[in-house]
Amino acid sequence: MTINILRTQDGKTYQEEFSLGHSKVTTLLSALYEIKSKLDPTLTFGSGCRSGICGSCAVLVDGKETLACSHKPSADELIEPLRYHPVIRDLKVDKSKAHATLSILKSVDLSPDPKKIDEQKTKIQTDCILCDSCYSACPVLAVNSDFLGPFTLTRVYRYEAIQSSNLLESIQTNGIWDCTLCGECTIACPQGIDSKMDITMLRSLSAQAGHSDPNFGAMGTMEAMDFGTPDFGDGGFGF
Ligand code: FES
Repeated sequence: MTINILRTQDGKTYQEEFSLGHSKVTTLLSALYEIKSKLDPTLTFGSGCRSGICGSCAVLVDGKETLACSHKPSADELIEPLRYHPVIRDLKVDKSKAHATLSILKSVDLSPDPKKIDEQKTKIQTDCILCDSCYSACPVLAVNSDFLGPFTLTRVYRYEAIQSSNLLESIQTNGIWDCTLCGECTIACPQGIDSKMDITMLRSLSAQAGHSDPNFGAMGTMEAMDFGTPDFGDGGFGF
């Protein structure tokens, strides 16, 4: 079996192919350990629990976010580091900026609100392992690096659903309205958490609290602008 890895060493990024011969590796993570122990001790990657719990081994496999410890490798797959995270070395990325988005939760009031919905209904959101797969899969981060990202918005929804808090204000900018609802975060989550739905619910809660989508305001402004009478004569275009 051969495994292709996009490596970054000493500031240089390049692709390298490793052949594991006929060795029987059960997971991608065990293949990475085998490469490190037998072929190149400098290979660097994230690893912890080796059982899908800690979230530290997430990588891209042929462009899809994957937990290396839960993935059975196939020949010629390309293994890359997660998107939108600075690469420390090879497959190991710096998650500090992504995880700093969770700081908006610091101000939350932790007293449960009996008027809010049953805590059990948002139990799945507590299964987040902060692997950052949803963050890496989110296309909004490609155009807005300040976007809060799916895992933080899912956590906000969990808080908002079970207790009164002041968090809605802090997700209006670079938050729920910037999401395109493409659902890539939901597809990428190894825990089955539906961040797209959580963001949809947060939009609803925000609307009930008097907030509105700023994009609607922008569209209203566009409609109000006078662009003049279109010229469909010679050299013009019509539909
Ligand atoms: Fe912990 Fe893969 S090593 S989730």
